[in-house]
Amino acid sequence: MEIKQAKFIISNTDVRKCPEPDRAEYAFIGRSNVGKSSLINMLANNKSLAKISSKPGKTQLINHFLINEEWYLVDLPGYGYAKVPHQQRDRFQKFISRYMETRENLINVFVLVDSRHEAQAIDLDFMEWLGVRGIPFSIVFTKFDKLKSNDKHKVIARYKRDMLKRWEEMPPHFLTSAETGEGKEEILSYIAGINETLDY
Ligand code: GTP
Ligand code: MG
Repeated sequence: MEIKQAKFIISNTDVRKCPEPDRAEYAFIGRSNVGKSSLINMLANNKSLAKISSKPGKTQLINHFLINEEWYLVDLPGYGYAKVPHQQRDRFQKFISRYMETRENLINVFVLVDSRHEAQAIDLDFMEWLGVRGIPFSIVFTKFDKLKSNDKHKVIARYKRDMLKRWEEMPPHFLTSAETGEGKEEILSYIAGINETLDY
């Protein structure tokens, strides 16, 4: 699949104000600054679609984009960044969990993790939270361009090892870079493959 058209629809903090749940929806989430907005722009071939910042906490709302007039892509605020004030963090957490728990057309959550870091408890806990609720997810390793080629294999093997302490198998996962476009084909084909099986 190629993203030919990406249209910003609405931003809000209230799941009731999200667009009608009449199309398949895919959400992108992860810690603040992990590269969610950059990845979305890379997938959509549009550098200014989602707002990017080197300062964590840029995305503060649930942002809906309509892709190819066919499915929704959702950019979410980052969870658990230490420098975001507690009150704001709690508020984020509330509306994100409400969104995840109630959005009936949410097909898959892409959990982004920075490929330079070891598995972090906050990400593993979040995946567990999804698992308990039966919300399907996959892992997207970001900023893969920042790894030395020697380390690439090791980093993923180490992450798998940590995942397998909690899970019976490694969920679907993607190696990506917003800089080089790595992983774009794989993620878009994955989404297209799921969309084909749905009745939306
Ligand atoms: P919040 O909205 O604040 O939660 O952040 P985010 O997860 O949307 O991250 P964002 O896309 O704004 O990117 C954060 C920083 O990482 C920016 O400075 C990006 O340029 C940089 N970045 C994101 N993806 C990549 C990547 O694949 N490679 C490299 N080298 N830098 C990246
Ligand atoms: Mg963002």
